Amino acid sequence: MRLLDPAQHADAIEQAAQRLADGGLLALPTETVYGLGARADDDAAVARIFAAKGRPADHPLIVHVPNQAAALTFASAFPAVARKLTDAFWPGPLTVIVPRNPDVATASAGGHDTIGLRCPDHPVARALLEACAQRDILGVAAPSANRFGRISPTRAEHVVEEFKDQGAGLDEVWVLEGGPCGVGIESTIIDCSRGHPVLLRPGKLTLAEIEAVAGEPVMWSKPEAPDPSAPKASGTLLSHYAPRAKVRLMSDEQINAALDVIEPELTAAKIRDAAQGPRIAVYSRSLWAWRPKHQGVVHLSMPGDAITAAHDLFADLRELDATGVELIWVETPPPEPAWDGVRDRLNRAAAS
Ligand code: TXA
Ligand code: MG
Repeated sequence: MRLLDPAQHADAIEQAAQRLADGGLLALPTETVYGLGARADDDAAVARIFAAKGRPADHPLIVHVPNQAAALTFASAFPAVARKLTDAFWPGPLTVIVPRNPDVATASAGGHDTIGLRCPDHPVARALLEACAQRDILGVAAPSANRFGRISPTRAEHVVEEFKDQGAGLDEVWVLEGGPCGVGIESTIIDCSRGHPVLLRPGKLTLAEIEAVAGEPVMWSKPEAPDPSAPKASGTLLSHYAPRAKVRLMSDEQINAALDVIEPELTAAKIRDAAQGPRIAVYSRSLWAWRPKHQGVVHLSMPGDAITAAHDLFADLRELDATGVELIWVETPPPEPAWDGVRDRLNRAAAS
């Protein structure tokens, strides 16, 4: 594993681009989460991503492009709604699904006849995609840089944790440092390939923002009730984005009542067996402001606004997981649309 840091070494971006040009695996920062990249035009290189992640080969990857012109080379058609959305939101946390140019990126698309395209808004990602374009590589296929089904990484050190112990026969992952990701949850995905736009995965951009630009209603295909015409894709699976510990979504009142019941028992258990660490963590927006903390419970506060909550979510879940707890009780996010992305990720984490 090699860490390339543009803040330390002037040629880090060039080395990273060369790594991709050579068909190697490179984890790259984006504004949403870190991606595990390979050149999109090389099916053998892309196969290394599936192997490293342990991801089923028919699950399509997102191809990252430097601009709309590069995106067009991967598409057989670019519907008007895709044009409007990418004009408005690229570079940024939006992926559009469009019909695929059948001559390119077959492995990246998992064999599907559509392709997911995204132009990320992160200075390091943009510099990397430019350096790739200089080498005639117009797209970098990159799913989130985590093992299949696990939490997406929002810092370079999370990627290192995921891939430092690559087993025999698997390719080494190089990591391009870009600091903590600004958005923190994956891009909003809009399927523009079916005549009417469909939201496959909510993200920072809200449905209202998307509809305002699309100029038409956008249907939301939820994982618990997917649109039957939607392809099976990992980010659209109900059970996904999960930490090792079990996640349970509860109201503030439910968490409070449950703690009332178990805290006396935890106190007694502690007296009997002081070596036993806490098995429950509570991740709540408001509870810890007024409820006294208990030694037998790991407590962490969820930020009170949706943007900061998204930014911190995956790093906080990783931190809670690292304490070794068996259960994470999470306060259900508010019903407002601004929380759709965070609520979606927590619902899926709780479903596994
Ligand atoms: O923010 C993001 O989107 C991050 C960063 C790295 O760009 N990427 C990401 O990739 O989250 P991934 O592979 O973990 O999730 C992409 C989702 C998956 O659910 C995948 O199945 C879906 O997009 N997807 C990609 N291409 C698709 C297609 N042609 N049709 C339907 N779903 C597609
Ligand atoms: Mg993912």
